[in-house]
Amino acid sequence: MSEKYVLITDESTGKDLRLPVVEGTEGEPTLAIKALPSTLGYFTYDPGFSATAACTSRLTFIDGGKGILRYRGYPIEQLAGQSSFLEVAYLLLNGELPSEEEFSGFSEQITHHTMVHEQLNHFIAGFHYDAHPMAMMAGVVGSLAAFYHDRMDMENPEHRMLAAQRMIAKMPTIAAACYRHHMGRPTAYPRNSLGFCGRFLDMMFSVPAEKYEVSPLAARVIDLLFILHADHEQNASTSTVRLVGSTGANPYACVAAGISALWGPAHGGANEAVLDMLSEIGDISNVPAYIKRAKDKSDPFRLMGFGHRVYKNYDPRATIIRKACYDVLDEMGVDDPMMDLAMELERIALEDDYFIEKKLYPNVDFYSGIIYRALGIPVSMFTVMFAIARTVGWVAQWLEQSKEPTRIGRPRQVYSGPTARDYVPMEKRS
Ligand code: ACO
Repeated sequence: MSEKYVLITDESTGKDLRLPVVEGTEGEPTLAIKALPSTLGYFTYDPGFSATAACTSRLTFIDGGKGILRYRGYPIEQLAGQSSFLEVAYLLLNGELPSEEEFSGFSEQITHHTMVHEQLNHFIAGFHYDAHPMAMMAGVVGSLAAFYHDRMDMENPEHRMLAAQRMIAKMPTIAAACYRHHMGRPTAYPRNSLGFCGRFLDMMFSVPAEKYEVSPLAARVIDLLFILHADHEQNASTSTVRLVGSTGANPYACVAAGISALWGPAHGGANEAVLDMLSEIGDISNVPAYIKRAKDKSDPFRLMGFGHRVYKNYDPRATIIRKACYDVLDEMGVDDPMMDLAMELERIALEDDYFIEKKLYPNVDFYSGIIYRALGIPVSMFTVMFAIARTVGWVAQWLEQSKEPTRIGRPRQVYSGPTARDYVPMEKRS
């Protein structure tokens, strides 16, 4: 903690309090307000946590004003251009880039844990065929706690790392199994001779009747998208994982809670919502009408894939995805009218005063759906793809939290209900 303080004065009582300033290695300084209730008798009110840091973290740094995103200090642009998803996973989990030997050991470890208990496939079979894959994912990942709980010593760092690696390894297997259940296809087991993303594609699309060749382009692009989605500091789903983790809950239960939080259209569900929106808009000629609706306060419609709590500049991930989108469509020779529609929507929105004043730029989800669509990933699986990648961030944040003395997360409230009143027996109520 630095030696800086901010003096606050309660004008009604004349009492002063010096609040210590907490400074990280980068980013805005924060005020440590713990002494506020006991000294001045106030809590702070910050719905949506726009101005509140709930933890310190060494994983991911974002400067929303400048459009900067770094994992463990490494710019996202460099990781996206030169690294791989598994290497990024190692980096987030362990803090440093791996040596060749470390990386090979880590890859082997992840590959070794790709299978799921056979009973889990029976569990998946119990879902109705048209269950949303995110609902299935939340249930199935939560159920992993039942498979591994007894053998897990939460105080043992090796057990915690094993749980983290298991989750990273098994998530694609579970995701593909959920999809295959929906499609009525037999379960596909992981082919460990393939890489992380190739294996996932194989489990998604291979059929027993025909030979399936994984497209290197598809595997490469998915790897890129997974890097971009791997972590994003204290977003809603990660904060959920940390909050559940603060209770000492089993890590599989923490991640299942994170999956549920991610599903919402204001968060990871936006990639699915973007495609739904583009389908609804249908034609470039309808774009102005939808922009008008997005600006109308009496209309709940929002431009999905636009805006971000932290980025008040272009989301750096969107810049990378936008380019990847063109490259993929080009390389695959796909002429997707959705892309033209998205481009027109982006062009008009970025020239519009409403979006300029509110600093609403396309976010990571604006383009990811278009790429997934080109690769044949069904729309209902878009948020699942996000969850596979974000599992790395969730478990890395959970590991970080588990190493430190953690108090249970327990926000306060401003009570606005009735004041004290006496119970009235039913027969006397008017
Ligand atoms: N379309 C139209 N107006 C918008 C949009 C949008 N997409 N996003 C924000 N606004 C407006 C709001 O109406 C509000 O206007 P006001 O100040 O006049 O009331 C202002 O911009 C600020 O919006 P908030 O909702 O207060 O911003 P917040 O930080 O709480 O929300 C969020 C951020 C949830 C991402 C929001 O921009 C949104 O709903 N976007 C669409 C959904 C989306 O793309 N989500 C993905 C986020 S990225 C991710 O999770 C991976």
